[in-house]
Amino acid sequence: MKNTKSNKFHKRSEEELNDFIKKLDLQALETAEERLPLYLEVGLKDAKFVLDVGCGSGFVTRDIARLTKGWVVGIDGSCGLIDVAKKILKDYSNTKLCIGNAEQLPFKNNSFDIVTCNLLLMWADDPKKVVNEMARVTKPKGKVLASLEPDYGGKIHWPENPKVDPLFAGEAIRKKGGDPHIGRKLRALFISAGLETNIGIGNNRIWSCEEDKHYYLHSRDFYIKVLKEAGLSEEEIDEWEYEYLKSLDEGVQLNFFPQFYAIGIKPKS
Ligand SMILES: C[S@@+](CC[C@H](N)C(=O)[O-])C[C@H]1O[C@@H](n2cnc3c(N)ncnc32)[C@H](O)[C@@H]1O
Repeated sequence: MKNTKSNKFHKRSEEELNDFIKKLDLQALETAEERLPLYLEVGLKDAKFVLDVGCGSGFVTRDIARLTKGWVVGIDGSCGLIDVAKKILKDYSNTKLCIGNAEQLPFKNNSFDIVTCNLLLMWADDPKKVVNEMARVTKPKGKVLASLEPDYGGKIHWPENPKVDPLFAGEAIRKKGGDPHIGRKLRALFISAGLETNIGIGNNRIWSCEEDKHYYLHSRDFYIKVLKEAGLSEEEIDEWEYEYLKSLDEGVQLNFFPQFYAIGIKPKS
């Protein structure tokens, strides 16, 4: 019998896991230009102890490990993803991985110079608890960085498709258990965790049609599944896909949604 039960943390079923890992790999590559400047801004290079919360399959943790001489600890609630991360990080002797819940981090107060997370808060059941925990384990004057937290309410896209667009403007994320509007909540989350906070948008570049097409073809199964689950017929899906790919091939498609980040400094106690 197929295992369709979703994991409590990554919210995917066993069957979806391989595609999810592939998506995280591509996503890490495609978003490096947004994340790497943030790592430099928070002083990753000279940090001694760094924690990557919700590290998943470790592709982003690998970027972090490359940019610092310090120790990098990755933690995630999913045993399956930590197993993948162990393989991805096997050549990085400055990394350590552990399984644990971000809502109750198994570390002492004031342990890390930098605590990061990428695309975690959108999927966390209780993002407030997670940010509070990230702040707790950060040293005074240390930094908390949440990168790539999208807000689908700010999605801009043309040409339109009234049937399909709302699904990709947040509905699909909400159905999967994520918060499509986490971006706008970052400031409140960081401020209530007692952090001196700076919010920004990491992606100020609009992807080319070639990039959008590459991403779409790579994630096609996910898109088709969402449309099927929403009750669209094969014919409606084919029609949408034909129009979407045509607009990409003609070079007229425009897609943008803001990816917020937050940098918080923990005050000296
Ligand atoms: C979208 S993935 C991002 C993974 C990785 N940060 C990246 O950018 O490739 C979100 C990750 O957060 C983890 N996660 C969600 N809630 C968690 C929690 N409460 N404790 C630990 N991990 C959690 C999931 O298991 C998943 O690996």
